Amino acid sequence: MSKFALEEVLSVHHWNDTLFSFRTTRERSLRFKTGQFVMIGLEVNGKPLMRAYSIASPNYEDHLEFFSIKVPDGPLTSRLQHLKVGDHIMVSRKPTGTLVCDDLLPGRNLYMLSTGTGLAPFMSLIQDPEVYERFEKVVLVHGVREVSELAYADFITKELPAHEYLGEDIAEKLVYYPTVTREEFHTMGRLTDHIRSGKLFEDTGLPPIDPRQDRAMICGSPAMLDDTSALLDELGLNISPRMGEPGDYVIERAFVEK
Ligand code: A2P
Repeated sequence: MSKFALEEVLSVHHWNDTLFSFRTTRERSLRFKTGQFVMIGLEVNGKPLMRAYSIASPNYEDHLEFFSIKVPDGPLTSRLQHLKVGDHIMVSRKPTGTLVCDDLLPGRNLYMLSTGTGLAPFMSLIQDPEVYERFEKVVLVHGVREVSELAYADFITKELPAHEYLGEDIAEKLVYYPTVTREEFHTMGRLTDHIRSGKLFEDTGLPPIDPRQDRAMICGSPAMLDDTSALLDELGLNISPRMGEPGDYVIERAFVEK
């Protein structure tokens, strides 16, 4: 059996000039944990050109969803952004990744800290019932440069609380905290600054992060991962040292330069 399944594109949504998402069919045998990623790609000059993409859909859906940046001269995204319904892409059969709930110690509040397309794995995780069983509050922070990059905002704030099975949990436990750095918005600045200054806790009414009780997951650019990890370290949280060894927080490093 080939390493890759060929999946059909079911829909494509362009959020703005730089971001889009798309859905594909899902091979029935593909099993994954929410928060994991797969390699996806296209055949270019007779060879597979593959990159790591978080699965943005929950693991109980029949389809797969991906959220991507469009880089004009990016080897893969310059092509992917032109995907149309009915096109095919390759999807690896081995989901993996360190941004999984299994590697978090039990706790009170779970902070999902993301910037840009780092939101993708959290879109899967916030639709996972286990997350709401394990934590009292789930705080999804999404930092972007411009308002138009706040992808999925309506889905998170309007559709998810009305979700058939998860709606009640989501309405009670999910706190969505978008923040914008380069345009006027009700919440402005970097998420790291909002944690340091305490603004995040003032705005949400939640107690400041307590390393004995609170947990976190981080996904963003390499610089964001470094800075946010350093901040959580300062606050006294311990990173999960490797897959299968739980910690107070986990990070994913696979989403760089597509
Ligand atoms: P800023 O506009 O101040 O650079 P990018 O598109 O560069 O990945 O940035 C996405 C968002 O993440 C932007 O709001 C950006 O803020 C913010 N950001 C960039 N680097 C960091 C960092 N090291 N720590 C926290 N936020 C960051």
